[in-house]
Amino acid sequence: MTVQIGDIGRAVRETEYAVRGPIVARAQELERQGREIIYCNIGNPQALSQRPLTWVRQILALLEYPELMDRLPAGVLPADAVAKAREVLAATRHGLGAYTDSKGFLFVREAIAAFIRRRDGIEADPEHLFLTDGASKGVQAALRLLIDGPGDGVLIPTPQYPLYSATITLYGGAQLPYPLDEASGWQLTREGLERAVAGARARGIRPRAVCVINPGNPSGALLDEKNVAMVLDFAREHGLAVLADEVYQENLYRPGDRFVSFASLLERKGYREVSLFSFHSVSKGLLGECGHRGGYMECRNVPAAVQDEITKLQSVSLCANSAGQLVTYLMVTPPEPGGPSRARWEQERRGILESLARRAGIVEQGLNRVPGIQCNPVTGAMYAFPRITLPPGVTDDEYCLALLEETGICVVPGSGFGQAPGTWHFRTTILPPADKLQAVVERIAAFHASFRGRRAG
Ligand SMILES: Cc1ncc(COP(=O)(O)O)c(C=O)c1O
Repeated sequence: MTVQIGDIGRAVRETEYAVRGPIVARAQELERQGREIIYCNIGNPQALSQRPLTWVRQILALLEYPELMDRLPAGVLPADAVAKAREVLAATRHGLGAYTDSKGFLFVREAIAAFIRRRDGIEADPEHLFLTDGASKGVQAALRLLIDGPGDGVLIPTPQYPLYSATITLYGGAQLPYPLDEASGWQLTREGLERAVAGARARGIRPRAVCVINPGNPSGALLDEKNVAMVLDFAREHGLAVLADEVYQENLYRPGDRFVSFASLLERKGYREVSLFSFHSVSKGLLGECGHRGGYMECRNVPAAVQDEITKLQSVSLCANSAGQLVTYLMVTPPEPGGPSRARWEQERRGILESLARRAGIVEQGLNRVPGIQCNPVTGAMYAFPRITLPPGVTDDEYCLALLEETGICVVPGSGFGQAPGTWHFRTTILPPADKLQAVVERIAAFHASFRGRRAG
């Protein structure tokens, strides 16, 4: 007798992940039939023409095939890239094909600790760092620790990135949504957080942690320092852990804006009673190395016995993949100033960030010109989450499906992320190349007008 759908766990069946849901499946079907599809559903930069950083790929190539270092004529690759590859290879001891420590290579964790010290001016301990297969696995590890059953709740933003809702459901915990305030550019409010906690307690659920995504997905908003401080105060008063998803920390587009990490404010406030789990990734920022599955989790104020449990969980699947760990290393160790690779790295960095900022502007301004669409400023991350006015009785699912069928543009309905009752949204990435993106925005504008006209009557 084969395994039937009814035989598999209820938690698995109830887990939803809209970013790769039915609309994407339909897009793939249309593509197989020969239609051109523009995938704006997922933050996957290299699938939409972003080029990898040369520094990362040159070194990675040498690490995967070290013989190249002896066979390539001198001058083919910059001397600093070759020297770095030799240094890294020696530090791995056995190359990329061997399992690593459960927590990941120590020299990589040391480099990340140095990166955090430089970024935030605070102490960082490599022993409190865990290398993971992308940030997703770190988030899942932290949620795994905190959820023991339906009585354990985790606060998540509305709208949120569905990794959170999906994993909480999968682990059998309770999602405790708190609203992001659309009217104030998607900031968090203390009342919203308090209401989520009070509601949970009234239902007999114990809130364990609050998750914050900064800069936000899908909101595209950067939280200001006051907002970050407010969350830490709130967590301290209610005895909650904080999960700080900071994978978009490099993706800031407004001149003068500054990313403030949760770790830096936690240390400045001197809070020792708030456990903090922070996440970073090679998938976003400058690298866009989604397929390499690299990332890390940093723990602060997490007792050694608890960290031992994390190490144990990591060891159940042995270790994070070695190439992803080394891409993470290269993310935090760019070429030295003055070295032969530096100018190219800086030029590529500037090119990527300026282009993303330009594209954020194209999406935001283009959508705001359409009657019936309102889009908050895209100040960070890689997404816009515009609000759409729909005729009565029409849902965002129907809207996004019709958009796909008529224009070939694949976006995700707001319901996949959560939205205030009575409002409709969709999420689009800002990632298609600028010339294509202009056409995407124009096609959405034309579609929106015609769809509303047809469905209003
Ligand atoms: C907010 C957020 N966190 C985590 C992830 C997962 O990233 P990774 O590829 O590092 O697992 C994403 C991916 O889009 C994301 O948007």
